[in-house]
Amino acid sequence: MKLTKLVVSLAALGLSHCVLASADFSFSKQSSSDAVGNTPSHVIFIDDVDNLDGAASIINRASNGELTKLIELNDFTGEAGSTLHLQMIAGVESVLVVGSKHDGSLTKTDLQNLGGVIAASLSSTKKDVDTTVHIDNLNTEIDAPSAFVAQGYHLRHYSFDKYKSVKDDGQSKVNFVNADADSASALYNNDLKYVAQGVHLARDFATEPGKSLYPEVFADSIKATFKGVDNIKVRVLDVDDMEKLNMGAHLGVGNGSINDPNLIIVEYMAGEKDDAPIVLAGKGITFDTGGISLKNNDGMWAMKADLSGAAAVAGAMHAIANRGDKVNVVGLMGMAENMPSQDAIRPGDVLETMKGTTIEIISTDAEGRLVLSDTVYYAQQEYSPKLLLNIATLTGSAARALSDEYAALVTRNFDFSSEIMQVGERSGEHVWPLPLHPNHFDQIKSPIADIKNSGAGNPGASIGAAVIGTFVDEDLPWVHLDIAGVDWLSSEIDVAPKGSQGWGVRFMDQLVRDYADKDLSR
Ligand code: BES
Ligand code: ZN
Ligand code: MN
Repeated sequence: MKLTKLVVSLAALGLSHCVLASADFSFSKQSSSDAVGNTPSHVIFIDDVDNLDGAASIINRASNGELTKLIELNDFTGEAGSTLHLQMIAGVESVLVVGSKHDGSLTKTDLQNLGGVIAASLSSTKKDVDTTVHIDNLNTEIDAPSAFVAQGYHLRHYSFDKYKSVKDDGQSKVNFVNADADSASALYNNDLKYVAQGVHLARDFATEPGKSLYPEVFADSIKATFKGVDNIKVRVLDVDDMEKLNMGAHLGVGNGSINDPNLIIVEYMAGEKDDAPIVLAGKGITFDTGGISLKNNDGMWAMKADLSGAAAVAGAMHAIANRGDKVNVVGLMGMAENMPSQDAIRPGDVLETMKGTTIEIISTDAEGRLVLSDTVYYAQQEYSPKLLLNIATLTGSAARALSDEYAALVTRNFDFSSEIMQVGERSGEHVWPLPLHPNHFDQIKSPIADIKNSGAGNPGASIGAAVIGTFVDEDLPWVHLDIAGVDWLSSEIDVAPKGSQGWGVRFMDQLVRDYADKDLSR
């Protein structure tokens, strides 16, 4: 019996806990040359404790040098990201001092990180109401720096409290004060805000339990999210459609679950009519038990986040489409639940793919590559993309190799890999290359089918990439991202609390900014 049916509409409607309830930000020019203003809470930056400037010097003067004294007493050095929280100084209820000391000028990422630090600090001191953030003395060459500080704040201001009886996120009103107010407001409201919302959307999907988020619910939520957005078309291929397309690998993965698999397609065609699109394809396993090759229970709960690739694709599409870029981008989300049952695929089974070739199942736990093999093939047949990216929580091997700092990047070409690493640098989400060697393809030869879905073991991340790569045209610029290590944070970072960080939204958003207008034909 399908008890979970009961929660379908509820979950589809109530999924996003805070995507639209972002903090209430304003940008104003009020100069801080005379007074700090009249909100109960202020944030000021200090990069040089011996030479206070901007709002810091005003507060210092107004407090007759108490600020300098407190900096000394607390051994505050101004190190970037360090904080000092002061109360009742110069008649102001709350002053959060944030260090911004840096050896050069602050980058976009540095600015976002400072915004994240502010959000974390203010919510921990429950002073996240009516705050003025003084940007004026930040040392940066970035245009409209306030917008990036605001975006960092927005990124960090996240809490998944939908199942808590006591909710922990309050609405914040934050005013960013700087001469850049007009341009920062435009940049944040027409662009950066949507990226942060996309990240929150991805976190919501990754954090939602498997009980209430399975392929059909995911599809309903995607339809709701993109309803009314210009130039967007959402289509969902169900089991019948996928059978007609002969997607036996994807269907095989979903077969053990009472919740049917599907393939969700979000087309955003706002560019030139005959410009080939960029296709972003995400692994969307709503829960990965391992199937008949059942996983050990240790940490299995985290496999509710095995749809992080698909979630990130959804978030990136949200950012790109709402910003209104004149580009063609297609998001594909290959959804299934990997369950053991009498209908589940077995180790040793042979599945037929959409390409017409066969895959022998060695482990039913190597399911992501099965789904994506059909998804990337479909992407090429249907869209002839100019660039194809797939993103997946694919292997423990990638997680062990690179942990929290880098997602694993696999391409067929060294130069292309270094180009794509730069996308990571610009986006604030970093990638590091792993190899794809002809031997990796040899290791997935099967005695009874065309290939098998895993090799003898090492190197697991490359073998996983080789399986998917078998279905990708060798001439197509192809980016494979294995995010198994970065999707779930065991401890907080500046722009994200611990838990899902929505990894990939900012990366793919940046990729589209950088590559949508590029001619990649060779
Ligand atoms: N979803 C897992 C990979 C994973 C592991 C993601 C840890 C996040 C954290 C994937 O489906 C999987 O089970 N991979 C296996 C492949 C193996 C059976 C060839 C793995 O990496 O162990
Ligand atoms: Zn998986
Ligand atoms: Mn698995």
